[in-house]
Amino acid sequence: MELPNEKSASRIMVAQLLAKRRTQYSLGKNIALPDEEIDALIREAVRLSPSAFNSQSSRVVILHREENQKLWDIVKSELSHIVEGEAKKHSFRKIDSFAAGAGAVLFFEDRNVIRILQDQWPLYADHFPDWSEQASGMAQLSVWIALAGIGIGASLQHYNPLVDAKIKRHWNIPETWRLRAQMPFGSNEAPFPAKTVISDNDRFRSFFR
Ligand SMILES: Cc1cc2nc3c(=O)[nH]c(=O)nc-3n(C[C@H](O)[C@H](O)[C@H](O)COP(=O)(O)O)c2cc1C
Repeated sequence: MELPNEKSASRIMVAQLLAKRRTQYSLGKNIALPDEEIDALIREAVRLSPSAFNSQSSRVVILHREENQKLWDIVKSELSHIVEGEAKKHSFRKIDSFAAGAGAVLFFEDRNVIRILQDQWPLYADHFPDWSEQASGMAQLSVWIALAGIGIGASLQHYNPLVDAKIKRHWNIPETWRLRAQMPFGSNEAPFPAKTVISDNDRFRSFFR
């Protein structure tokens, strides 16, 4: 049986892991682990994530090294149709910081899975699109925490739907996969800024008996 102080130690360990997950824009390629090991961890994090009815609607494409560079080249080429001047310079600087990393994870949700569930469970039909979004968020957080756990920095980006068509064409992605988020990752090349948190009074209500 666990002693009370062992329980606190576990709580502190979990909180420390969660605190390691921060938004990192300053990414590099200084990672000692092989790409294959990072790839395996990302896959495991997605496999271990929950989904409604265990539908496993999330689909994930992992881009390493030059493939990551290609992703951000695509984003730049699509963005250049809609931004110009200072805004373009600012966006491109940001995108270069993602390309400077070691890779990126593309999170999709398979519309086909949602459609099948809606046919099977008409009572819940309206909920399945929401649950798919929630499952995607859970997979994203699992991967982000897993990467943080091995000292790899990441952030969450949303260049969809602007870049969807080109990405699908380039990596031959099935038509039913809908891009939901992009997570560039790499070595942490800068410390994290302090983060403000809102008051617990505004956020929590706990009830104990
Ligand atoms: C649903 C969601 C969407 C987000 N979209 C973006 C985004 O498009 N670009 C970005 O730089 N960060 C994005 N973020 C990251 C947040 O800005 C960041 O998590 C927040 O400021 C807290 O900082 P932290 O990640 O360091 O804890 C997103 C986060 C969430 C949960």
